[in-house]
This record gives sequence, C-alpha cells and structure tokens, in this order.
Amino acid sequence: MRVLLVGGGGREHAIAEAIARSKREPQLYVAMSKKNPGIARLCKEFLLIKETDRAIVEFAVKNKIELAVIGPETPLAAGIPDALWDADIPVVGPRRLAAQIEFDKAWTRNFMKKYDIAGLPAFKVFRKGESGTDEYIDELGDVVIKPAGLTGGKGVKVMGDHFDIEGAKVYSREVLKNDDLVIEERLIGEEFTVQAFVDGSFLAFAPAVQDHKRAFDGDMGPNTGGMGSYNDAKDILPFMRESDYTGAKKIMGEAVMAIRKETGVPYQGILYGQFMATAKGISVIEFNARFGDPEAMNVIPLIENDFLDVCLAVVNGTLGKTKVTFKKQATVCKYAVPEGYPDDPVKDAVIEIGSAGDARVFYSSVYEKDGKVFTTGSRAIAVLGTADTIQDAAKIAQDGLSALKGRLYSRRDIGTEELIRKRIRHMEELRA
Ligand code: AMP
Ligand code: GLY
Repeated sequence: MRVLLVGGGGREHAIAEAIARSKREPQLYVAMSKKNPGIARLCKEFLLIKETDRAIVEFAVKNKIELAVIGPETPLAAGIPDALWDADIPVVGPRRLAAQIEFDKAWTRNFMKKYDIAGLPAFKVFRKGESGTDEYIDELGDVVIKPAGLTGGKGVKVMGDHFDIEGAKVYSREVLKNDDLVIEERLIGEEFTVQAFVDGSFLAFAPAVQDHKRAFDGDMGPNTGGMGSYNDAKDILPFMRESDYTGAKKIMGEAVMAIRKETGVPYQGILYGQFMATAKGISVIEFNARFGDPEAMNVIPLIENDFLDVCLAVVNGTLGKTKVTFKKQATVCKYAVPEGYPDDPVKDAVIEIGSAGDARVFYSSVYEKDGKVFTTGSRAIAVLGTADTIQDAAKIAQDGLSALKGRLYSRRDIGTEELIRKRIRHMEELRA
C-alpha cells in the first residue's frame, strides 16, 4: 500500500514506525520540512517541503498514493486534506472546516456554547480591534488570555504564571491589534489528554496521557511544547477518577457529532482533547485536530491493531466495526531539548545518539547533514520507556537519555514516584 505521511517531528517518527510495521506492505512517502533521519530511514522517498505547500498534493498524485496521514496542525489549517480528498486520496486528518476546532479558539468556544457541550469555562470572545477587555478581566478576576489563532503553543498566557491583572490587560490589548482573542476563567487542577481515532461519527479512544509543559524539574520555568508525558497500564492516570475519563470521552463524542452539524463536514482523523480535572469535575482546555507531541509517542506504540487497518477504518467510516485495542502497559516519554530551550536555544549543534538500551528513540526537530545529526532549536530527541509501572518506564527512559551526547537537557522528574504522588495529592486537596 502506498502511503503519504506529512510532517517530520517526533510524533511523525512514531507514526512512520507504526506504518512501517503494517502487514499491508507499506511503501511510505513523506513530505517534511527538514530531513528527519529516523523517518528518512523508514521511507521509500521523501520530499523536503513546507508542510503547508500545495505541491504536496502533486507529490502524492505522482506517487499514486492510496492513503495520506497528516501529523501536525499547520497542513490541516492550510486545507491540505481538502486538496488531497479532491484528488481522490483519502486522508487521516480533518478537512479545514472541521479542523477549526484546533486553529480557531474563538470559533471553538462559541461552538461549544451553541451545542451545549459540557466542560466549558466562563469565557468571552473579543474581535480584533474591539474594546471592553479590561472590564471582563476585572469581572473574572483570574484569567487566561488566548489569541484565537495558531501560535505554536506560545500565545496562551495564564494569570499567576505569566502576569498579574494589569499585565493581563496589557497583553489583551496587544493581542487584539492583530488577532481575535478569548478571555476565559483560569481553571485549577491537573491536566490530562485523551486522543482518539475518529471516522466521522465513531471514536476509538487511547488511554489518558499527561504532558509536562514547563521546561524544568518541579514544573518550573517557561512553558514549552511539552517536555515529556506518561500513561499508566490502564485507561486512566493515578490522579484521575474513572468518571474523568468517561466524561472526557462523552465530550469528545458530542463534539464530533456537533462538528458535522455545524460545518456539514464529517470529522475524520485524530481528535485530541485536553482537559483539566478540577474540584468541580472536568473542563475542556482545548481541542487539537491531531495527535499530541509528545503524547503520540506514548500511545501509538501501544496499538495492538495493524496501524493501517485503523487508518483505513477512519477514512472508510468503519471504525465502529474495528476493535482498536492498546497494550496495557505504562510508558514514559522524555524529550532532550537544546540548552537554552525554549527562549534562547542552541541551534545547529552536533548531537550523538548511542545505544539507548531498552528505551526507544524518536527523532524530532533535528536534521541530518554529512552523516551527522544537528539540533534546530526545538525539541530534539525523545526517548520512550515501556514497562508495567510508570516508575519502571521512567527509569528506562532516564537510562535511555544517557545515550545522548551534545548540548541538550531534559527533565529528570517526569514519571517519578515523587511527581506522581504530588499530582495525586494535588487532586485530593482540591476535592477535599
Ligand atoms: P493551549 O495552547 O490552549 O493548550 O494552552 C496552553 C496551556 O495553558 C495549557 O496547557 C494549560 O496549561 C494552560 N491553560 C489553557 N487554558 C487554561 C484555563 N482555562 N485555565 C488554566 N490553564 C489554562
Ligand atoms: N503536547 C501538546 C500538544 O501537542 O499540543
């Protein structure tokens, strides 16, 4: 089977491996912006191209692609799936109208309200140039400020973490010069992610995962794209209640049905729900229209089905008949990132990757030149430990990190017993 993958990060390396393991004799073609050495090794041919470039469709047609899988959000926002479907190539990745759920946060909050989807925090949308933000910030008191468009995870600012009430007002006015804006109530609790394959109406859910946004141990330092993530050997995380997971699944299912009603387009691809478990139950932080990075690396290797069978069920609308199952194992994924990341990262530094022992290695934002691997300034290499317990998986990942040489750093605490206990205590305190 001739398959196109769009994207060249750690998430896409995990997807490429899953495709390569298929029994459907996969011939993998990849469109990526830089030569990811892990992916390049697994594919028959790759094209170095911006992931939003329509020439990707010509590349697919020329190579008689039978199925396309989109990794990142930017091609979704650019309508690459629409153009591929128009060329009769089925796509795992929602069409532009359906992908709005990720790339327009103002649209999504209004959509949740219109369809009465649970987990909606207090919010207000302000259109570019509009006034009245100071009054709303005073009214809510504790706020999060979100530019409506895609900002690569860097646009959202949280009171307490990033600014005080005056700072929130200044930032709101600044964003409104160029973009629409959502101001919403700050939620307090523990975050978790649920990812699902979606075929237009049916959802096949992966186990819950928790990412770690902050750069340094103890959840200190600036927000990043995600320093690492873990899941347990069951569907829920140690701090979660079963009802948090079932509630999240229900919300995602309702969102999928409502998207079809609102846009006329079936949602076919991956839906990522990010939730906050709070004292009052779960709330939706955001939806993404793709796998998370790093969260993809936790769950994709656990899929027991042939990955391409699942992808075909997504595009054919037959997911309800395909039982998608995940191995009951814990995983811990840790990113090694360039020194100085995210604010002032070391770029174009050589790194060496030795034997990672029992850990699996995923290449992310690195490129290969003259047989050597270099950093780009973004998250470089992910290592994944898999075991029966989170702590054992964390040890394997930590040992795996020692195989990396170069100007990199990572978090030691992800998946450790101490941090897991802290998350449990936090939820117990909130629920008390
Ligand atoms: P997003 O880009 O929407 O994922 O937001 C980035 C981060 O901001 C999230 O991972 C949360 O940690 C935080 N965040 C977003 N919305 C809220 C909210 N309403 N309350 C508290 N934290 C939030
Ligand atoms: N790890 C967060 C994301 O992929 O959006």
